[in-house]
Amino acid sequence: MPPMTASPLPVILDGDPGLDDAIAWLLALASPEDVRVLGVTTVHGNVGLHLTTHNAGVTLALAGAQVPVYAGADRPLVRTALTAPEVHGDHGLPAGHLPEPTCAPATEHAVNFIIRAVRERPGEVTLVATGPLTNVALAFRLAPELPRLLREVVWMGGSTGQGNRTPAAEFNALADPHAAKIVLESGAMLRMFGLNVTLQAIATPERVERLRVLGNRAGTVSAELLTAYAAFYRQRYGLPGGALHDPVAVAAVLRPDLFRMQALNVQVETQEGLNFGRTVCDLYGVTGQPANVQVGLQLDDAAFFGLLFERLARLP
Ligand code: BDR
Ligand code: CA
Repeated sequence: MPPMTASPLPVILDGDPGLDDAIAWLLALASPEDVRVLGVTTVHGNVGLHLTTHNAGVTLALAGAQVPVYAGADRPLVRTALTAPEVHGDHGLPAGHLPEPTCAPATEHAVNFIIRAVRERPGEVTLVATGPLTNVALAFRLAPELPRLLREVVWMGGSTGQGNRTPAAEFNALADPHAAKIVLESGAMLRMFGLNVTLQAIATPERVERLRVLGNRAGTVSAELLTAYAAFYRQRYGLPGGALHDPVAVAAVLRPDLFRMQALNVQVETQEGLNFGRTVCDLYGVTGQPANVQVGLQLDDAAFFGLLFERLARLP
């Protein structure tokens, strides 16, 4: 990870809200001492692009934030599109009484915005990607210098072990494995937070209740989203609540000290078949290939939730 600086880090939030993307973005938007959100960029994923873009506007309205939204890729590079309505509902944000976006999305494409914003601040920008990596890969193809101009990419995706959408593959990796391959092979500074670590961030009923009683709309809506989410996690995984996958990636930018990391060689399977979309992490160095990713292995979950409660309490 690059050395920390005193002033807030300029970040771009790229994702597919999606209820955990929305909570991740609320966490970032509530943390102006740590990050300055230059823009949010949307991608296909949990729901279609028109919905992720609408939900981006809803999330910004929830945070009371004036940040531009840029719509990006509406489909993966090669494979057919994948969505996750069983986890995020048909619209991506399963809660009532959500505010309407206060601004229309910008006309500039997300990929062009990412390239422009990074070129304007060489070495400074952190790209937090919490969805399929299609926008990031397209930006790297259009502007091959981008990987070295970025401060780092922080990605929620993949796993050192078991998948979730298939036994082998995590959703974001499986939703665009060819894009993930471009990013993994790009030479960009990359931190990856896969299921092996995000499944340590479980929103138990007690933690959801802490959000509900924060006394603000951000807390109430987050609690409502996580209650809908918990039913799926209980039934599918036997867990006491949903995993806050995407907020873990934002927390890694705000508080890198909460994690144990290891530099590993990581590759992704792009051949269709049982292992399609699997991130193959060389934990024991058996391939002799150089490390290309700092991989999250362990999280201080109590401190993570403490951070989430403290920051979300600041929002409207
Ligand atoms: C990831 O997949 C999506 O459904 C979530 O938003 C998260 O980014 C977890 O596998
Ligand atoms: Ca996501």
